[in-house]
Amino acid sequence: MSVAIVTGASRGLGSAIAKALAADGHAVAVNYAHDQTGAEKVVAAISAAGGTARPYRFDVTDEAAVEGGVAAIVSDLGPIDVVVNNAIGPHDPRSIEDQTWQSHLDQLTFCVKAPLLLLKSVVADWKARRSGCLVSIGSEVVDIGNPRSAPYVGAKAAMIGLTRSWARELGPFDIRVNLVSPGFIPVERHAEVTEEAFDAYRKDVAMNRFGVPADIGAMVAFLASPGGNFITGQTFAVNGGRTLA
Ligand SMILES: NC(=O)c1ccc[n+]([C@@H]2O[C@H](COP(=O)([O-])OP(=O)(O)OC[C@H]3O[C@@H](n4cnc5c(N)ncnc54)[C@H](OP(=O)(O)O)[C@@H]3O)[C@@H](O)[C@H]2O)c1
Repeated sequence: MSVAIVTGASRGLGSAIAKALAADGHAVAVNYAHDQTGAEKVVAAISAAGGTARPYRFDVTDEAAVEGGVAAIVSDLGPIDVVVNNAIGPHDPRSIEDQTWQSHLDQLTFCVKAPLLLLKSVVADWKARRSGCLVSIGSEVVDIGNPRSAPYVGAKAAMIGLTRSWARELGPFDIRVNLVSPGFIPVERHAEVTEEAFDAYRKDVAMNRFGVPADIGAMVAFLASPGGNFITGQTFAVNGGRTLA
């Protein structure tokens, strides 16, 4: 059975990605750092649907924690075949005057450091087996250039470069590396967003509606499926055409 890890899968898009991968037959490691109840709910939903999943609590930004977490997953489920870099920390907008180098480091830690730690934990095994699928979750904010959000936008932009460089370096080993860039997909943390803000966003979406977390899950599951076998180094916007212009 193929084994997948989804970082930050206790809620939001990560939980939908975990469910989509499990529905496609992957055994899924549901990673989280704080919300044990949320992770257990995701695991229970996958099990109830006939899939295989287990929760793994570790901080994806901590090198020793990633090493330990990956070792536990391999011991429980077997060698990892698919890594999905999805976890993110707080990224509230603020003016340049209120941004610091630490604001940038906080985002780079999730968007560059964590994906690097995860990749390093599997890459020797993937090279030896001449297979592996890495999918990171970027954002359309890179194309839009959301103001007051440079630390987040810059870190998400870095993910495009990582994806392209890693894809070229690892392509000869049949290891594929891709990036899925969602639009604004309402999840639990958007409960306080006003109707006006939703309307303002929707008017710029070609399909004039919001996507749902399962839309992102489906794209990731496709990239991890045989259909994705010859796709690498690419960025896929899943945003109803918001970034067409
Ligand atoms: N939703 C959107 O509209 C949207 C749009 C574009 C891009 N994205 C991207 O999609 C991804 C998911 O976004 P989301 O909206 O679903 O986020 P979210 O609801 O805030 O969920 C973040 C997840 O990351 C986990 N997490 C936080 N710190 C962690 C750590 N140190 N180690 C491991 N896990 C950690 C959280 O779990 P715990 O609380 O249990 O730690 C949670 O499961 C992110 O990369 C985000 O940038 C989202």
